Amino acid sequence: MEIKKVGVVGCGLMGSGIAQVCAQSGLQTVVSEINDDLLNKGMGMIKTNLSKSVEKGKLAAQEKDAILGRLKATTNMTDFTGCDLVIEVVVENMQVKKKIFADLEKICPPHAILASNTSCLSVMDMAMATKKPDKVLGMHFFNPVPVMKLLELVQTIATSEETLKTIRAFGKSIDKTVIVAKDSPGFVVNRLLVPYLFDAMRMLESGMATREDIDQGMQLGCNHPMGPLTLADFVGLDTLYFIANAMYDDYKEPRFAPPMLLKKMVAAGRLGRKSGRGFYEYK
Ligand code: CAA
Repeated sequence: MEIKKVGVVGCGLMGSGIAQVCAQSGLQTVVSEINDDLLNKGMGMIKTNLSKSVEKGKLAAQEKDAILGRLKATTNMTDFTGCDLVIEVVVENMQVKKKIFADLEKICPPHAILASNTSCLSVMDMAMATKKPDKVLGMHFFNPVPVMKLLELVQTIATSEETLKTIRAFGKSIDKTVIVAKDSPGFVVNRLLVPYLFDAMRMLESGMATREDIDQGMQLGCNHPMGPLTLADFVGLDTLYFIANAMYDDYKEPRFAPPMLLKKMVAAGRLGRKSGRGFYEYK
């Protein structure tokens, strides 16, 4: 099956990035939010990103208009009628996600593939909110979506090989490199990333090194684009805390248990870049 029309439920940081990449790859794209304010904010991020590319001479002005012409922004889920693929990118709340999957099954054509961008929740549980779990999988994108090359696919025990094949080809068509993981919390990337970020936090907590030295150690010693504490601020400390708890609940391994410092920072509203303060301060 060829994917010609894509839907994206949620136009926050990740949803807007996914919608942008799909429209930029020539696909008719519908992106939704729960109200006009959030929709305008998300569309604003897309327009800013595209305008920057035009300013840098990486995108022609007419091409920017063509991309925006392929994007339909809506607050009405029924606009997903006719989508071959819909990617859910809403809050990490299983009840909310299950409802969206059940609604999408009613709105979209029977052949439509339904995907979740969850970074830690069980895709199998979402699939069971529909009557076609063979057409449900995880599509985990990375922030910032227009820049990061990876697309991590999550295959449940019910996802069909045909669905996986179609989405592999789709990933390639939007210029992403695909890896496939089984449906277990954290999949490949977060299962490796989260304990690493937590070790950096524990190092800071114990006074073993300063935040700058921990970050520079990994940036300059291992050529990472960001040190672990900067990256944690970038991902969002509340997001990391949520992912870690979900992973710890399932694996019961101490390495996934959130450090006390992280717990206290989240309680204090120090959520990283988005709140203006995390391990660092942001203007
Ligand atoms: N949206 C779109 N484009 C962006 C962007 C954004 N938010 N931020 C940066 N860019 C673009 C810039 O416009 C620039 O593009 P050009 O090369 O075309 O000029 C390019 O990215 C590089 O940006 P900068 O020069 O401003 O800055 P940089 O070189 O420091 O790169 C970065 C910024 C790409 C974010 C880089 O620091 C990086 O790769 N950091 C690591 C990001 C990472 O690990 N992400 C994964 C997080 S984990 C996750 O997402 C999953 C999960 O479940 C938690």
